[in-house]
Amino acid sequence: MKKIIVSSAVLLLSLAGVVHAAGDAAAGKEKAVACGACHGADGNSMVPTFPNLAGQSEKYIVKQIADFKAKATRQDPVMEPQVAALSDQDAQDIAAFFVSQKLVSTATADESKLAMGREIYKGGNLQTGVPACQGCHGPTGAGNPGAGYPQLTGQHAMYTIKQLVAFKDGSRSNDDRKVMRNVMAGMTEAEIEAVAQYIASLR
Ligand code: HEC
Ligand code: HEC
Repeated sequence: MKKIIVSSAVLLLSLAGVVHAAGDAAAGKEKAVACGACHGADGNSMVPTFPNLAGQSEKYIVKQIADFKAKATRQDPVMEPQVAALSDQDAQDIAAFFVSQKLVSTATADESKLAMGREIYKGGNLQTGVPACQGCHGPTGAGNPGAGYPQLTGQHAMYTIKQLVAFKDGSRSNDDRKVMRNVMAGMTEAEIEAVAQYIASLR
C-alpha cells in the first residue's frame, strides 16, 4: 500500500514537470549501508559529531553530497572519501532512503542554556541583526524541504556548533546567497552554544 502511494506521488511529480528525478528509497537502503556505520542504519546517529540524517530534506542531502564531492565550499576529510564514488543517482537514492526514516533523536541538551537558545531561535537578536532561526527552519526545526532549508530538530549540539562556527568564519560557504554566513555574522560564541543546545532539545 505504501509503495502504491509512493509511486503515485512520484507519478504526480513527474506529471507536474518537476525536473529533479526522485530517488528510490529501496535502492538507497542498500547503498546507504556504509553510511550507517556513522550516521546510524536508520539515519539516527548515536555519536554527537555525526549528524542525524533521518527525516532530513531530500534536496538538502543531495546538495550536501554534491558539495562534499566538489570540495569547493564544504570540506570534510571524513566525508569526502565517503561520497567520492557516488553517482547523482546514488545520492538521490540514498537521500530518499534517509528522508523516509523516522527521526528519533538521542541528542542531549544542556538545560541551563535553553532559555537563551530559545530566545535566539524564536526571535533572533535585534541589537546585533541576528534573524530568528525559525523564520527559515520552522518553529520545531522541521525546515522547509522544498526550499532546501535543512531540518534542525534534535540535531546533536556538537555537530551544530561546528557548522555554525564554520559559517561564521567562512570555512563552510555552500549556503547560496550567503544566507547562513550573514545570519552568523553578528552571533557571539555564547549565543552559538545556546542556540545549538536549544536545537538539540527540539523534538
Ligand atoms: C566515518 C564516518 C562517516 C561515514 C561512514 C559517513 N559519514 Fe557522512 N558525515 C560524517 C561526519 C563527521 C559529518 C560531518 C562533517 C562536518 O563536520 O561538516 C558527516 C556529514 C554528512 C552529511 C551532511 C549532513 C548535514 O546535516 O549537513 C551528509 C548528507 C552525509 N554525511 C551523508 C553521508 C552518506 C550518504 C554516507 C555514505 C555514503 C556517509 N555520510 C558516510 C561522518 C561519516
Ligand atoms: C533566511 C533563511 C535562514 C535563516 C534565517 C537561518 N537559516 Fe540556517 N540555513 C539556511 C539554509 C538555506 C541552510 C542550508 C545551506 C546549505 O545549502 O548548505 C541553512 C543551514 C543551517 C545549518 C546547517 C545544518 C546542517 O545540518 O549542517 C544550521 C545548523 C543552521 N542553518 C542553523 C541556523 C540558526 C541557528 C539560525 C538562527 C540564528 C538560522 N540557521 C537561521 C537558511 C536560514
